Amino acid sequence: MTGRTIVITGASDGIGAAAARALTAAGERVIVVGRSETKTKAVATELEADYFVADFADLSQVRALASALRENYPRIHVLANNAGGIMGRRELTVDGHEKTFQVNHLAPFLLTTLLMDVLANSGARVINTSSVANRIFGRLDIADLDAGQKYATNRAYGNAKLANILFTRELHRRYSRQGITTAAFHPGGVATNFSAESNSPMRFAYTTVLRKLMLSPEQGADTLVWLAGAEPGRDWVSGAYYAKRRIIRANKQADDDELARELWERSEAMLAAQLETDAR
Ligand SMILES: NC(=O)c1ccc[n+]([C@@H]2O[C@H](COP(=O)([O-])OP(=O)(O)OC[C@H]3O[C@@H](n4cnc5c(N)ncnc54)[C@H](OP(=O)(O)O)[C@@H]3O)[C@@H](O)[C@H]2O)c1
Repeated sequence: MTGRTIVITGASDGIGAAAARALTAAGERVIVVGRSETKTKAVATELEADYFVADFADLSQVRALASALRENYPRIHVLANNAGGIMGRRELTVDGHEKTFQVNHLAPFLLTTLLMDVLANSGARVINTSSVANRIFGRLDIADLDAGQKYATNRAYGNAKLANILFTRELHRRYSRQGITTAAFHPGGVATNFSAESNSPMRFAYTTVLRKLMLSPEQGADTLVWLAGAEPGRDWVSGAYYAKRRIIRANKQADDDELARELWERSEAMLAAQLETDAR
């Protein structure tokens, strides 16, 4: 399939930019979404693509992004929720949420929800960039999603990436009958700007010679590009979590249907103000 409208967040750099290049080369119409105006514009200019800028640490910007996408694109065939990363010390956003959780989970949850009717009418795929950190560090406390009780940089990131997988499962359960398919994936250890804003020891791997052992952004984008191009139901399973084009094991908590349902409901409650119907 070519000529589809594919929205990629975090497309101003790293894995998202590599995916945007590959999908444009395959004949798709990619909409480049980033945070930095300069970087986003540069990728969009290179690809002769439309672009939008939004900082996910400010939910009013996510709402504005959703409105702009709705105004400009009656059909969105693929939404790749890829923007994200690991943070430093615990910080609250202007919306009052822990920043890692907001940027990696709440903001893409809001964007997807505000676009849901367009996505359903388009028979869209929603592809969520998770991380193996979900399994290594994730231990989600549903009563403490903003990590007010207990915060550690790696755990906050692992929890947010676990939330991506739980969101994928619940999105499938709620919306597959309306034509939406969805998958989460781990891109591998990829030499990008990842962790540039973090004090995590993980940063060591990205800033030393260890970087040479990592995948290139093009390699890291492979599963995303594959999920966008291959046929859900035939080539891949909606609701599942992938790496290297195969289903892999996630954190045990990712198997918990009740937790997935509860996370969805709590996310909606946390976003009640942003989800009011006049946002559309
Ligand atoms: N690299 C890895 O080894 C690895 C491993 C597992 C998972 N991941 C995941 O892969 C995804 C892409 O990361 P990457 O490795 O490509 O890192 P990257 O090169 O740092 O790219 C991150 C992208 O996300 C955007 N972004 C970051 N914070 C944002 C915010 N507050 N609001 C809106 N956009 C924001 C950045 O926008 P600007 O550049 O415009 O600021 C950039 O486009 C992330 O979800 C990350 O967690 C990466």
